[in-house]
Amino acid sequence: MAYEPILTRNVGKPEVLTVAGYRAAGGYAALAKAVGMEPGEVTEEVKTSGLRGRGGAGFPAGLKWGFIPRTDKPKYLVCNADESEPGTFKDRVLMENDPHQLIEGCAICCYAVGANTCYIYIRGEYVEPADILERAIRDAYEAGVLGDNMLGSGFKLDMRIHRGAGAYICGEETGMLESLEGRRGQPRVKPPFPAVVGAFGCPTVINNVETLCNVPHIIERGGDWFRAIGTDERNTGPKLYCVSGHVARPGVYEFPIGATLDDVLGSAGGMLEGRQLKAFIPGGASAPILAAEHRGVPMDFDSMAGVGSMLGSAAVIVMDDTTCLVRSVSRLAKFFQHESCGQCTPCREGTNWAAMVLARLEAGQGTTADRELILRMTNNMSGTALCPLADAAVGPLRSLASSFPDEIEAHLGGDGCPYPVRRYFSGEAG
Ligand SMILES: Cc1cc2nc3c(=O)[nH]c(=O)nc-3n(C[C@H](O)[C@H](O)[C@H](O)COP(=O)(O)O)c2cc1C
Ligand code: SF4
Repeated sequence: MAYEPILTRNVGKPEVLTVAGYRAAGGYAALAKAVGMEPGEVTEEVKTSGLRGRGGAGFPAGLKWGFIPRTDKPKYLVCNADESEPGTFKDRVLMENDPHQLIEGCAICCYAVGANTCYIYIRGEYVEPADILERAIRDAYEAGVLGDNMLGSGFKLDMRIHRGAGAYICGEETGMLESLEGRRGQPRVKPPFPAVVGAFGCPTVINNVETLCNVPHIIERGGDWFRAIGTDERNTGPKLYCVSGHVARPGVYEFPIGATLDDVLGSAGGMLEGRQLKAFIPGGASAPILAAEHRGVPMDFDSMAGVGSMLGSAAVIVMDDTTCLVRSVSRLAKFFQHESCGQCTPCREGTNWAAMVLARLEAGQGTTADRELILRMTNNMSGTALCPLADAAVGPLRSLASSFPDEIEAHLGGDGCPYPVRRYFSGEAG
């Protein structure tokens, strides 16, 4: 498939880190075009494109922008750069390699919804991307892209970086708003939704880094052009897949949305050491695990839902035939146990129980009732908590119990895990 990268076209070109270099590569032309349009027309173009959020939930971006009320209250854009889901590292590539693409996308969104302030909430551990963005923002102020008179349009836009402090829950949009406002990052009850009561009690758009990076291209080349890329009318545009696990070349690969695992493996150099594929997670730690038979299914929002998983953040974690799925899910269960903010009983207790049951199974101390117990726990956690973290924790657990019962069965003999431990980090397998 001949495909010209869109979002990653400037990767490996350090000259685009400055406004001058980015402009020389065609940058900020879309922002100049946008400020010549009516704000509502900009939103309409994004609606036409069919762009769906790349942060996990796949909510249509144009529709979200359209929810911002036209009141006199201050309005905000908060760009979600928290990127803390295990296996997800696509936003980092965009921020490190092409920071002005993100600044331009944010500026167009702010103009469309009338937001005069934009915060980029970035994961605390992302020190280098944050420094790169800080420098790019400073440069954009000096060049008149940001500030009191954006590109001479009369529109005022301030942009600030806000660094997180290492909590996955601060990636959840309302937990992020709490943290931004200086409180503990605990999700809020919705409704009201952030579009109406968001940052500092004011209307707020929250979009992911990759979502916003698509925006300049939509404005420059048109919503119809964007809509023609991808699987169908509901799954449009380019998509970054971050590939990790047992592949020869882990990394971020761009495709039209709807690439299959086989397409992605083709770019990632195939399976590590030529091994056989056992299973894969298509969308980060919260996505249900898929068996190898699904390797030909398009990885887009609807096709993944159709086979019982989700595209999520498109973090593709590849597992070969030496992988113990009980151990893998046990690691994920520990992650969710650690990251639950503890506000809701089903999530706080459920993630704790899940981690204990999985650790017990892995150690060979499980019982024949454990598969049923896992399914019951996941039912108790689904849809009963305040934010989607509890549902996210359920994804891998439920898929282990329902799609891979043999893996659980293989741990019930009393000897513990039948698979060898492979230590790639030490450079030794054994
Ligand atoms: C526990 C949890 C963590 C999340 N982490 C992130 C994240 O790191 N980055 C992100 O963009 N969205 C994350 N989300 C999704 C956000 O709540 C929100 O849906 C998203 O930022 C909206 O942007 P989008 O519509 O452009 O995808 C997370 C959600 C949950 C429940
Ligand atoms: S579901 Fe979990 S992470 Fe979300 S608010 Fe409740 S306890 Fe916190």
